[in-house]
Amino acid sequence: MTLASGRQQVSSADAPGSAPTTAAQPAEPIPRFDRADWASGFRNVGQELSNVPLQASKGTIPADLKGTLYRNGPGRLERGGHWVHHPFDGDGMITALRFEAGGLNLTNRFVRTEGWQAEEKAGKPLYRGVFGTQKPGGLLANAFDVRLKNIANTHVVKLGDQLLALWEASSPHALDPDTLETKGISLLDGVLKPGEAFSAHPRFDPGHRGEERMVTFGVKSGPRSTIRLMEFAVADDPAKGVKAGQLLSERSDSFGGFAFLHDFAITPNWAVFLQNAIAFNPLPFLLGQKGAAQCLASKPGGQAQFWLVPRDGGAFSGQPPRIVPAPEGFVFHHLNAWEISEAGPDGFGGQVEGPALVVESIFYADFPSIGPDTDFRTIDFDLIPEGLLERCTIDLTSNTVRTERLSERCCEFAMVNPRREGLFSRYGWMAVAERETGNDPLQAIKKLDLVNGERKVWSAAPRGFVSEPVMVPRAAAATASAGGPEPAEDDGWVLCMVWNGARCASDLVILDAASMEELAVVELPLAIPYGLHGSFVEG
Ligand SMILES: [Fe+2]
Repeated sequence: MTLASGRQQVSSADAPGSAPTTAAQPAEPIPRFDRADWASGFRNVGQELSNVPLQASKGTIPADLKGTLYRNGPGRLERGGHWVHHPFDGDGMITALRFEAGGLNLTNRFVRTEGWQAEEKAGKPLYRGVFGTQKPGGLLANAFDVRLKNIANTHVVKLGDQLLALWEASSPHALDPDTLETKGISLLDGVLKPGEAFSAHPRFDPGHRGEERMVTFGVKSGPRSTIRLMEFAVADDPAKGVKAGQLLSERSDSFGGFAFLHDFAITPNWAVFLQNAIAFNPLPFLLGQKGAAQCLASKPGGQAQFWLVPRDGGAFSGQPPRIVPAPEGFVFHHLNAWEISEAGPDGFGGQVEGPALVVESIFYADFPSIGPDTDFRTIDFDLIPEGLLERCTIDLTSNTVRTERLSERCCEFAMVNPRREGLFSRYGWMAVAERETGNDPLQAIKKLDLVNGERKVWSAAPRGFVSEPVMVPRAAAATASAGGPEPAEDDGWVLCMVWNGARCASDLVILDAASMEELAVVELPLAIPYGLHGSFVEG
């Protein structure tokens, strides 16, 4: 049996905008990934397990790591011999990994969506997929079938006593947080209309308004697009008569142009959206030739925009949104955003002339799409743009943006310490490619010092492939609430599911978030395809 073969690389600097360094390369050259190992991660999840106790295969599970890591991602990629055209079209499957007193147990369940149940019964695909999956039967079977299959496969978060499996184009599915049993579609106590879009990227405000909130949005796209921004309580507050999961505030704002918004960022006073310069031509979708997402394309000569929406209760509450021209490129995900309130140092050796908003995002040179005739397992990584971390400093007086590249290394799935969400953060953790430049599968996890560019990397190469790393801060010590020192920003762990190509199964890897040392590897009794997003719930 082969473990994840994690290796720690030497720390060196990812100087902003600099040429890539070679200092962090291990002495032995590491071969580029093996395509068969990588492709072996695309498969169906074959079983559903309940409360299976697990041991570390290597190292020790930290005794003070308490809570549940929930992960979501496509768990069914083939049905009746028909493969999805893109893994993002696969049915959502939730994994729960519960940590307690140095132990761990695992439960996993498919989300029983209406589409999943119908296709299980039929034994074949009955719906088209947004990313290009077609029903069997050719064009005739697909033309003018514009039904959406809510596949609930993108993210999973806890809100009140419900676990929500999210898919941005439609309603959340509620699950039991312990058993993962699907309760059904949730309209959040009447907040949502049936079928209303509800983002798969909520942001958790750690207490900018005094109490933690879940801030999220839904977007209705068209020639003019409307963003509904919503803020929910995450805990009961009997003194204010507030229940966990209750909607606390909302606002709606309309903007010119077709909006494609997958993610956003928050600060204490702002919700930050980056509207890519993108066009949507629905004709090939209607005619059954392409999935809806394949009808998105960069708009030649188009101008991307930041849409800055004031949060209710903040310093600009009630004001109209601001629109600022944004740099070229395509963004799915943001790392973080924060505010600079007055002229002075920006914290990175530069200066701002006045109030500014800073947002760090992963930019692609173009919208990455898989054409209708391409098998996703055979894609040429060199032909697809890589994601690169960039920082945009938005001058709120002049409405101009200064952009700097933070690293030349291909990355995705980046996060800061969740207690620093919306505030200046020194460290980011992200999935990266093994080589220093160019596009490749994600095989390593990087901690990047966003001030001086220093990085520490743990790598699963050559046979391991990482998914989204989740940074879990150490639970605040009693001394902190009693006036003692705040825990360091990088004090905690990084949890990551790794596809282990050597044993064709999934491993959970636990790293020390500060040093990026490998603390434990747990070989899971499951083979889980590359996932999307997840969250950690303490307790
Ligand atoms: Fe995402």
